[in-house]
Amino acid sequence: MLIGVPKESAAGEKRVATVPDVVEKLVKLGFSVAVESGAGDAANFADDTYRAAGAKVVPTAAELWSTSDIVFKVRGPSPEEVGLMRQGGTLISFIWPAQNPELMQQLAAKKATVLAIDSLPRQLSRAQKMDALTSMAGISGYRAVIEAANAFGRFFNGQITAAGKIPPAKVFIAGAGVAGLAAIGTAANLGAIVRANDTRAEVADQVVSLGGEFVRVDYEEEGSGGGGYAKVMSEGFQKAQREMYAKQAKDADIIITTALIPGKPAPKLITAEMVQSMKPGSVIVDMAGEQGGNCELTVPGEAVVRHGVTIIGYTDLVSRLAKQSSTLYSTNLLRVTEELCKTKDGVIHVNMEDDAIRGLTVIKEGSVTWPPPPPKLPAVVAKPKAAAAVAAPKGHGHGAGEPMSGQSLAVVFGIGALAFLLVGLYAPASFLAHFTVFVLACFVGYMVVWNVTPSLHTPLMSVTNAISSIIAIGALVQVAPPLAGGAVDRPNALILGLAVFSLVLTGINMFGGFAVTRRMLAMFRK
Ligand code: NAI
Repeated sequence: MLIGVPKESAAGEKRVATVPDVVEKLVKLGFSVAVESGAGDAANFADDTYRAAGAKVVPTAAELWSTSDIVFKVRGPSPEEVGLMRQGGTLISFIWPAQNPELMQQLAAKKATVLAIDSLPRQLSRAQKMDALTSMAGISGYRAVIEAANAFGRFFNGQITAAGKIPPAKVFIAGAGVAGLAAIGTAANLGAIVRANDTRAEVADQVVSLGGEFVRVDYEEEGSGGGGYAKVMSEGFQKAQREMYAKQAKDADIIITTALIPGKPAPKLITAEMVQSMKPGSVIVDMAGEQGGNCELTVPGEAVVRHGVTIIGYTDLVSRLAKQSSTLYSTNLLRVTEELCKTKDGVIHVNMEDDAIRGLTVIKEGSVTWPPPPPKLPAVVAKPKAAAAVAAPKGHGHGAGEPMSGQSLAVVFGIGALAFLLVGLYAPASFLAHFTVFVLACFVGYMVVWNVTPSLHTPLMSVTNAISSIIAIGALVQVAPPLAGGAVDRPNALILGLAVFSLVLTGINMFGGFAVTRRMLAMFRK
């Protein structure tokens, strides 16, 4: 089949749906690829690079749309583009079906099959590689910080120079979703003091792990609306939140707002008075401009100065990093194509039994299939469960392993007692004494190891270190000289050798484990 990549027609859109690297991979999957001349120019991909990757460059949009079996696009098509589309063709792009009913009707009239990349069921872990919303939000969070840095008249990091001491910039981030977290990481990397707030308390750890400080609202209310999204909060919460934001506004040099509740206008978090209370020269980047803005004074698409504060409401942050965003977006589309063409023969099969493909498909051969039924599988393990797994040992211990059910514990004990009885009946008395100590040691060892509180980097590390510690204690008892007046004999050379050997091995396991984990963690620290 022929995949066509037109030049984006929306004003200011610089992205392109497929980059030359991905063209090569599509060709390997058995597809032919055609690209409209100049499609990649704004993202720095020249026609020649597409040709070199194996694509055919066609001169006009009309030729591209009318010959392609499948069209890859970034933005949903304009009515003119739908007019050019082949009857019964396939389109993969952003569509936003809820907001664009007319476009949906036009595409259905074309008997098209449409996969809306924005309708991907993001809760499926398998869908992550296709998640263009996440890749685009990550880029925009980064770019928001760069725009803020550009408009801000000072360094982000604190410095002590001969000419004086420069304090670090204070950045406050409202909303710690995908874009917010990317902004936190970027601002912290630039050396700023970063604080962030979100109505979903579960993101606090992520904020801290990226180098920020999570600022809580002094009001008890669960902010999660399910699926990783927020809900509209009560009046009481909103009042308490406004008070906290007012304090932050007075203190912060830069505010980046990313708060969003799907399907709702953006919550107004920064009032005109808060803007007025900010220091002159401060900057606000309001990423929610398209949904009405998180700041009362935002002008969507523009940068304006109000009360001495620059308020940036750009709605094209992703396009401002066109090469990067095109590369990530086209990789997301490649992953979708791989799911559609498992046979690698250049033919797609829209399998409506597949949860991810079902969610993506908003029109199938002219019939509107949006909204989809909820996915059958809750593929991503619910976060509270994971948190509970870590929190559980505080109470009664099963750190890394699953606790045994009462029934299976009884069976294990029953079999053990029976085996013990048989040994007691037939084994010599001297063996029985050793055997009893062995069984008790196993029991005590099990209880000690599995009840250890996982306070190290991971529960598994805590458990293996508990085992290593028991081995180390055993070996030390063997190596140690007999207590004064004690009746313990010196062990023979073989036992001594084995004890020293096991001490060395457990030492490597424990200290090596710490060293390796430390190095791995250092890779994520700045
Ligand atoms: P997301 O849904 O992952 O994150 C939004 C976050 O806001 C969530 O963590 C949510 O809990 C939080 N939130 C909701 N209400 C809140 C409140 N009252 N107070 C504090 N936090 C609250 O969304 P994502 O993907 O991170 O996008 C963020 C925003 O950026 C959206 O408005 C999106 O449309 C916009 N965006 C803008 C772009 C641009 O060029 N300007 C480009 C890409 C995204």
